[in-house]
Amino acid sequence: MKKDIYILAIESSCDETSASIIKNGCEDIATVINSQIDVHRKYGGVVPEVASRLHLENITMVINECMEKANMKFEDLDAFACTYAPGLLGSLLVGVEATKALSFVYNKPFIAVNHMMGHIYANMIGNKLEYPLLSLIVSGGHTDLILMKDENSFEYLGQTLDDAIGEAYDKVARILSLPYPGGPNVEKYALKGEPSYKMPKILNDELYNFSFSGIKSYINNLVHNEYQRGNKVREYDVARSFQDCVTNHLVDKTKKALVNYNLKTLIISGGVASNTHIRQSLNDMCNSLGVKMYMPPKKYCTDNAAMIGAAAYILYKNKKFALLSTNAKSNVKL
Ligand code: KG4
Ligand code: ZN
Repeated sequence: MKKDIYILAIESSCDETSASIIKNGCEDIATVINSQIDVHRKYGGVVPEVASRLHLENITMVINECMEKANMKFEDLDAFACTYAPGLLGSLLVGVEATKALSFVYNKPFIAVNHMMGHIYANMIGNKLEYPLLSLIVSGGHTDLILMKDENSFEYLGQTLDDAIGEAYDKVARILSLPYPGGPNVEKYALKGEPSYKMPKILNDELYNFSFSGIKSYINNLVHNEYQRGNKVREYDVARSFQDCVTNHLVDKTKKALVNYNLKTLIISGGVASNTHIRQSLNDMCNSLGVKMYMPPKKYCTDNAAMIGAAAYILYKNKKFALLSTNAKSNVKL
């Protein structure tokens, strides 16, 4: 009988300190997430220096809590994994050093995971994926369309030419004076609004790239012009008009890639993939094409260590272990 593989994974690339034990890449045994949002909210965004200090303060507690929750000992594990890139360097370093220390002390393999690979494989938790497939990542730093011909191959079809979609959500939140993190708050406003503001067309070309800086500036000008004229801004409608506009852009480009590459499966991931309107719109588009769509539960869309454990299992199977000299990196492509 095949032995079950248990991996302890750690995520600390931005403002969440998280640890998770994942069995065979698809079963979440225990996950703990310590979010720093309440601290960063005071500053209107993540302060890198504060983030790394908080990771350092919390990491041991988060790991111990995860081990207790799983009722396991370090000796029971098969490997230790963590996010090593991309992200905030000081934050990444905390997770990388903690994981390397565990790997050294317990003499088990160390696996260095790219954060984006983690987002993608969040879809593996509870699901068996069929390849080839199209992967859409929508997060605070990325908006990527990636063709995956098999489990461990990544061919970029398109990406954002400027800002990521999450950045645009966060900026619109700031324009509307909504607190950090902006995405969920803009979504709440959009739910109460109508798409009554006319929005510009975004990058309507034949390729698979995205663009979000134009719409961001458009909303900024719209709101400030209204204020300057002494007009009342219909904030719920601004949020709804913006959300409909960026969702249509995502749906159009994703549909184009699915059709042109004749793909039958779509997986979505990243923090913005927890947005109900975006999930629903992509799902409707996939249904109309006869494409099967997977989306992680919302708790696995925003940063978490369970997705890092799922990705680490693929690397484990392929014996892609990392050296203990591995360093954190702020920017590495898949
Ligand atoms: O994947 P993630 O947690 O971190 C990165 O790797 O970037 O994504 C964070 C981004 C933020 O920009 C946040 O505002 C956005 O995801 N986000 C959302 C929602 N929840 C989080 N955007 C729109 N609607 C949401 N419900
Ligand atoms: Zn992320």
